[in-house]
This record gives sequence, structure tokens and C-alpha cells, in this order.
Amino acid sequence: MRVLVIYISATGNTKRIANAIFQAVPCAEKDIREVSDVQTEDLTKADLVFVGFWVKNGSVSMAILDLLDSLHGKDIAIFGTCGLPVTDSYRREIESSVTVWIPDDCRYRGIFLCRGRMNIQVRERWASMRSTAGDAATDQMLQSFDDALLHPDDKDLADAAAFARQCAAQRQSA
Ligand SMILES: Cc1cc2nc3c(=O)[nH]c(=O)nc-3n(C[C@H](O)[C@H](O)[C@H](O)COP(=O)(O)O)c2cc1C
Repeated sequence: MRVLVIYISATGNTKRIANAIFQAVPCAEKDIREVSDVQTEDLTKADLVFVGFWVKNGSVSMAILDLLDSLHGKDIAIFGTCGLPVTDSYRREIESSVTVWIPDDCRYRGIFLCRGRMNIQVRERWASMRSTAGDAATDQMLQSFDDALLHPDDKDLADAAAFARQCAAQRQSA
């Protein structure tokens, strides 16, 4: 089995998860690529492809969606990072918006999603929206920003590694 990890990452959070997945896959034949560096040959050789992204304005980069759309006959697992808390419903929302791009002749193996710290400009923009009297919605967003600062943490990386091993085992036993 040959594994390929592909990711897009603007500030490094998703790259850290991608590296954790790459390291954890118990497989000698494996490669890791940024989505902009993927060659056709990398895709042709791969049996199991992990595709990683960060959530931007409720969606995912077109480069990632186009890539998924182009994969055929592969096992595919997806992973991502986002600023908002990862509730079951948020994970399902992201999952369904991404997996709809996976062709029917692929086998979908699951999603790993965790929080990732956001750029400080996001906090500054949110803080500037806060009225001087204070408002609960903006305070909640600022709290959310501060909570995300700690991520990805060691547990996120360990959980991503466990996810990677589970996907590889599924593929091997298929
Ligand atoms: C312009 C912008 C838009 C974002 N939109 C969302 C969003 O809609 N939902 C969310 O949960 N996080 C959002 N985030 C937070 C990022 O998804 C999060 O910080 C992610 O870990 C960044 O990953 P990276 O370091 O790999 O680029 C946004 C961040 C930026 C900069």
C-alpha cells in the first residue's frame, strides 16, 4: 500500500496535522505534498490519500475540492483545522460540504477535524466590532479566538495520528 498526504495550510496548523498523519502511517511507501506541489505521478501511485485543508469562511479552498474531484479508485480520508469549536454538527457540516466532491468510485474513510489558532488580525477585527457597552456575541467570538490559540495541541496531534493508523488499517483489511 502506498500513502499520499496532501494538504493546504496558510499559517501552519494544517501542516502540523499533515506531518503527524504522515509520521503515524505505518507504511514504508509514503509521500507528503502541499497541494500546489502534487504531481500526477504522485496521485497515480497512491492507494490511500489523506487530503487536508483549513476552513475559510465556512468553506474549503477550491484547489482541495478540485483535487478531490480528480481522484478515482482511491481510498480517501480527509482532515482539517478550523477556528471554531469542533462540535459534532460542525464536523458533519464541514464533512458533507467536502465529501460531496469525492467521486463515487473512491472509498471514503472518514474525517479528522480539530481547532487551529487564528491569525491575530482576526481577533483585532472582531475586537473592533465590539461596542463599548460590550455585546455577548462578540465576546463569545473573542473567547473562541482565545481558546483556539492553544491548538493544535499534543492531544490533537495524537488524535490525528490515531486517525491515520485507523484509516491505514481499514485499507489494509479491505
Ligand atoms: C480569512 C479566514 C477565514 C476563516 N474562516 C473560518 C471559518 O469559517 N470557520 C472556522 O472554523 N475557522 C475559520 N478560520 C480559522 C482557520 O480555519 C484556522 O485558524 C485554521 O487552523 C488555519 O489553518 P492553517 O494554519 O493551516 O492555515 C478562518 C481564518 C481566516 C484567516
